[in-house]
Amino acid sequence: MSHIAGETSTGSKTRRALYGRYANDDAAPGLLRRSAGCTIVDVRGREYVDFVMGLGAVSLGYGHPAVVAAVCAAAEAGGVGPVAPELEETVAADLAALFPAHPRWRFLKTGAEAVAAAVRLARITTGRERVLTCGYHGWLDWSQDAGAAGVPRALGTLASPVPFNDVDASRVAIRTTAEQLAAVVLEPVIHTEPTVEWLKTVREETRRVGAQLIFDEVKTVCRVAPGGATERWGGEPDLVVVGKAIANGMPLAAVGGTDEAMAAIGKTWISSTLATEFMSLAAAHATIKTVRSGNVPATLARAGAALHEGMTRLAQRHPAVIRQVTGIPVMCAFEWVDEDAGARVALECARRGLIFKRTPWNFVSLAHTDAVIAEALAVLDDALRAVS
Ligand SMILES: Cc1ncc(COP(=O)(O)O)c(C=O)c1O
Repeated sequence: MSHIAGETSTGSKTRRALYGRYANDDAAPGLLRRSAGCTIVDVRGREYVDFVMGLGAVSLGYGHPAVVAAVCAAAEAGGVGPVAPELEETVAADLAALFPAHPRWRFLKTGAEAVAAAVRLARITTGRERVLTCGYHGWLDWSQDAGAAGVPRALGTLASPVPFNDVDASRVAIRTTAEQLAAVVLEPVIHTEPTVEWLKTVREETRRVGAQLIFDEVKTVCRVAPGGATERWGGEPDLVVVGKAIANGMPLAAVGGTDEAMAAIGKTWISSTLATEFMSLAAAHATIKTVRSGNVPATLARAGAALHEGMTRLAQRHPAVIRQVTGIPVMCAFEWVDEDAGARVALECARRGLIFKRTPWNFVSLAHTDAVIAEALAVLDDALRAVS
């Protein structure tokens, strides 16, 4: 009997999430023993090429030497202490360099916490409570459906969704909520790139009603550009939230903002014991340095383009199984004709030594060379043939 309640602490890593009703098939990978580059080895010694990349937390490749060295040095230096570590200021400066319009930063451990912090700050700044959301912002109560299991009904309509890239619906939602609206929180990339018109509309409309604009860049930072969607497409958010790839797999997230948007931090209590452990801060410093000096997003874009183009060809070749390709090159997935087809293909991939996510998203890293991607596409083709 497992002593873990519910198989594993990361919901998207359950066998059911990855393989649906084939979760218990022998071909599905077992528990993780180690990872390196873009390969993993399970407890049975089976090796797989991976495109899940720690759910997008890793863009340099697993166990990247510069990050490992930084983490080891920080651990040897004690890792944590009674006062703030010097690396906190260093990494805040690193992030401010990535997001020049956002000079003030606070660290947390998870994306969910950091988005919740951003929302708290926006509520203080505006003196309002309602929030419009677009995308996934973590598991905490404020962003879940009020009345869902364990989520107080009393949260009511404090947070309600707006559709991605929908100019008219976003404008109407913002105008309808108007003087009650604290913030719009959006993921700048979901099924596609954001349109400039959508970002512009959301910015103009939030300004018009006096609400804040928050970009949840948890998946996009250090990926679509070093400074995420804010760098790539603009949009002028008041607050940005980063996580995942900033520390290449070590637990770190942060909320950053303009001086005005971050001034609210003095009026509330946002704090976490291990927000200032400096192994993750060291990982972030090494990661951001590598991302900037090596122009990592450009390499990811090239690798992503090869994957995405190959997936598009496969979608054309296997219309009985695949409806279309969704996402952007560095973060993409198939849409299946039905859920079972996706699960079967994922399992057939695993049988052939490939972990390919049947649901959003698959991520490329620096370790995904042209040869790795070509081989993965060949495996996918074979798996798709086996299913169709
Ligand atoms: C856009 C976005 N925001 C927030 C989160 C939550 O981050 P975490 O799982 O680190 O709490 C995620 C996680 O997938 C995410 O993709």
